[in-house]
Amino acid sequence: MNSYSSYCCTEIDCAHAPLAERPDGLVCPNGHLFAFVPGTDVPMFVCEPEGANEYSRENAAEVHDNALRWVFKTFQTTEEDLRERLIARIGLKKGQRVLITGAGAGNDLPYLVRALGGEGDIYAQDIAKEMLLAGVSRYKAELAASGVSLHFSVSDATNLPFADGFFDAAYHFGGINLFPDIATGIAEMNRVVKAGGNIVIGDEGLAPWLVKTELGRMLINNNGLYACSAPLEALPATARSVKLSWELSNCFYVIEFQASTEPLPVNIDIPHLGKRGGTIRSRYWGRLEGVDPILRDRIYEEAERRGMSRVAFLESALRASLGKD
Ligand SMILES: C[S@@+](CC[C@H](N)C(=O)[O-])C[C@H]1O[C@@H](n2cnc3c(N)ncnc32)[C@H](O)[C@@H]1O
Repeated sequence: MNSYSSYCCTEIDCAHAPLAERPDGLVCPNGHLFAFVPGTDVPMFVCEPEGANEYSRENAAEVHDNALRWVFKTFQTTEEDLRERLIARIGLKKGQRVLITGAGAGNDLPYLVRALGGEGDIYAQDIAKEMLLAGVSRYKAELAASGVSLHFSVSDATNLPFADGFFDAAYHFGGINLFPDIATGIAEMNRVVKAGGNIVIGDEGLAPWLVKTELGRMLINNNGLYACSAPLEALPATARSVKLSWELSNCFYVIEFQASTEPLPVNIDIPHLGKRGGTIRSRYWGRLEGVDPILRDRIYEEAERRGMSRVAFLESALRASLGKD
């Protein structure tokens, strides 16, 4: 059974209000209804029209299976090997609650179940109901006795139906290059994972030293996604312990970081000792207009003569000129 009380409203004016169950779906206190996919207990927070993209076609999961077979043959490894290693990076512990975004047809689910030691919760979401429902039919019954609860939703990874800090960890593989807004997709993972929880994200993208090689050019010619670079600039400014590496013969980037919404511990008010003086804050926010360079040099000389830093001397001279020394 889905645990519906953990889902939240995704409408902008509802601040992730918790949802209540109704026979036809989940409803928020403001009346927004998220219907179940007909004939299932899977709540649907977005509804992409069938055929809107390659993942929302009826046979999308089979087409994706073929694409994956090609990947593993090409990069001379096995799906088991790759997924085991990626999921090991999340560092899951027994009983934890993990989110997988863009879960597709659920290929990671058995590995996540194993990594949870037979106890915990997996929330799998995908924007394409055709892919997600393939995952439901492939894994829901198969993993029902595992001790891990599976929860599926059709939702947008850039607007997740979960409260802040709800998960211990989050994982994504294989779809983020195509998100219309990668930074928001990552920000959402950061928002819903509790501080210090691990986030692991991977997708096609050659290591920089391969891009201009013949192999690199061939791969990019084959599929333009291999030209993607790891979207480090899209990480939240609060991200901790960031790591970047590559899998599959250095052709897929993997970003790992720890969630946080707290500013980095940087004290911008530590005074510099020495000639120039000032602090990070004063040097950045306290810059004044340009002055006569001869006057500037005389001020620097005078500061040195008095054994003061330039900033300390300037501040005292300016205060004095305002009559507030
Ligand atoms: C290449 S498949 C990868 C599936 C799966 N992660 C795997 O490793 O087999 C990419 C998936 O990302 C999904 N996707 C793309 N944009 C999404 C979004 N905004 N929110 C959720 N899923 C999305 C697609 O529907 C598709 O199922």
